[in-house]
Amino acid sequence: MIHAHITTWVLALVLFFIALGLHKSGKARGLKVVQMILRLFYLLIIGTGIWILSSLNSISMLYILKSLLGVAVIGFMEMIIVRSVKGKKTTTFWLLFVVTLILVLYLGFVRLPLTFMT
Ligand code: HEM
Repeated sequence: MIHAHITTWVLALVLFFIALGLHKSGKARGLKVVQMILRLFYLLIIGTGIWILSSLNSISMLYILKSLLGVAVIGFMEMIIVRSVKGKKTTTFWLLFVVTLILVLYLGFVRLPLTFMT
């Protein structure tokens, strides 16, 4: 399930940048489609995350923190796209997105025990 989890968030990040690219080039219809697929991927990330949590024998605070920050990353991606479309400022959300993403990657890859290597 770790592989599926990693695959879903990597693809979501790719779709996120594609969506922003489509918005920049004014392709509103393409953006709508990619946005919908991206939202499906949000659900898949959360689903695979919960799946991993449910397979654990004990859940430490670090797992909870990792999961909450994961949800926050998703929230910030959505905010950046929606605010870009509305022509609003996104600087704060970009900052929050980058900081939470770095924290999540650090917790997931470095601090928490499960790994895709096994
Ligand atoms: C964009 C959002 C997310 C990113 C970038 C992300 C990233 C990661 C990374 C890098 C790992 C470690 C993989 C490894 O060690 O091989 C991981 C594991 C995990 N993730 Fe996520 N994740 C996200 C969202 C979520 C969400 C929403 C949940 C919970 C609902 C969640 C729950 C977990 C759990 C339980 C693990 C196992 C922790 C471990 O390594 O022991 N993640 N995630």
